Amino acid sequence: MEKSVLILGGNSDLGFALGKTFLNNGFKVLFATRDVTELSNRISQLTDQSRASIVSFDALQFSSHEAWFNSLPFKPEITVCAFGMLGDQRQAEQDWMSAKNILETNYIGAVSILNVVAEYYEQQKHGMIVGISSVAGDRGRQSNYLYGSAKAGFSEYLSGLRNRLFKAGVHVLTVKPGFLRTKMTAGLNLPPMLTDEPERAARRIYNAVLRKRNVVYVKPVWFLIMLIIKSIPEIIFKRLKL
Ligand SMILES: NC(=O)c1ccc[n+]([C@@H]2O[C@H](COP(=O)([O-])OP(=O)(O)OC[C@H]3O[C@@H](n4cnc5c(N)ncnc54)[C@H](OP(=O)(O)O)[C@@H]3O)[C@@H](O)[C@H]2O)c1
Repeated sequence: MEKSVLILGGNSDLGFALGKTFLNNGFKVLFATRDVTELSNRISQLTDQSRASIVSFDALQFSSHEAWFNSLPFKPEITVCAFGMLGDQRQAEQDWMSAKNILETNYIGAVSILNVVAEYYEQQKHGMIVGISSVAGDRGRQSNYLYGSAKAGFSEYLSGLRNRLFKAGVHVLTVKPGFLRTKMTAGLNLPPMLTDEPERAARRIYNAVLRKRNVVYVKPVWFLIMLIIKSIPEIIFKRLKL
């Protein structure tokens, strides 16, 4: 059977880099995006496109997710959930629709589609789910706690899913990137030592898939950073400007 992967959010810079990595390793790749035109342009620039295809997908169309998954041209053995939105924390504090959009995109949308995928894999007793969460979900900070709380929920969802699906032989990998140089962080002044290019991150994630890791910090130094951040007592933490 041909190896295959579905990338939900295939037009994200990380999702696209991951798709390329899977293509280079002989996988058939189904890229799912809201922006089929832009993704078609990106794919047309690849040297080997023969195993790549695109489907239209909106994480916020919750009620369509089951039918959408059932209508895919083939059922992938791996599903990667790579869409997301950082949003504007300050704006979202004052405007409910902005906050709701952050929460729905990063948490509800991911749960909505992965619930469907998980049911299918559990029945098949085969498959793998890769969820791209974030170190932002490890501890709430004033600078991005709306996005962070959605990612925290997503990490815990993936933990529960891994626990549930283990007996069915279905593996769940939680990926926690730190900073990535992508369109999500364009314009931000990121510290080079703590920042990964999407292609490099994609290679690390691909290796974690092969090794069936449970939880992986894409750049290992982030494991240490978050360990320190999580260990700061609340009485001190609440006074910090993070
Ligand atoms: N960049 C970082 O520093 C960083 C750090 C930690 C974690 N992450 C996580 O890593 C993943 C990839 O991030 P990235 O930086 O590569 O992202 P990105 O380049 O900014 O792309 C995000 C993508 O999410 C998709 N998206 C947004 N709302 C959607 C919706 N309703 N339905 C379907 N797709 C939707 C958009 O795709 P379309 O418009 O094409 O549909 C967009 O291309 C995300 O989950 C992100 O939260 C990123």
